[in-house]
Amino acid sequence: MKPSKKRRKIMVIHGPNLNMLGKREPDIYGKETLEEINSMLKNLGEKLEIDVETFQSNYEGAIVEKIHEISEKYKGLIINPAAYTHTSIAIRDALLLLDIPVIEVHLSNIYKREPFRHKSITADVATAQISGLGVQGYIMALEAITKM
Ligand code: DQA
Repeated sequence: MKPSKKRRKIMVIHGPNLNMLGKREPDIYGKETLEEINSMLKNLGEKLEIDVETFQSNYEGAIVEKIHEISEKYKGLIINPAAYTHTSIAIRDALLLLDIPVIEVHLSNIYKREPFRHKSITADVATAQISGLGVQGYIMALEAITKM
């Protein structure tokens, strides 16, 4: 279906190495590819009557610039900053520019993994965080953000 001007838009941003989902440590991140996750979210968007736009980059600056592009047109952001969760003050600062709900999603439970993954630099500037529910976490985030 064509995006309609009247429908609300939600942006979904995927950080580095998430383009390798399916191949990448499937015991941790699951078997679904990023393409499959994105089409699941777009299909759910159709049911919820919202436009879901997706973006993936392995570059911190590209993610920062995509966040800058998010204007009043978007009603929410779902972001998995991947490894940048633990390192990127630049992504955190960009998120602080936003005045819309932001849900941080992690496929794995970052608090059950290596100590360097326990700290999220971005979680406290997000509205909420979902960690450890696999693909279901994105689905729940989309359902929740449309109600915010
Ligand atoms: C991740 C967790 C991060 O620690 C890791 O660097 C990722 C994926 C997750 O979705 O579980 O790339 O964000």
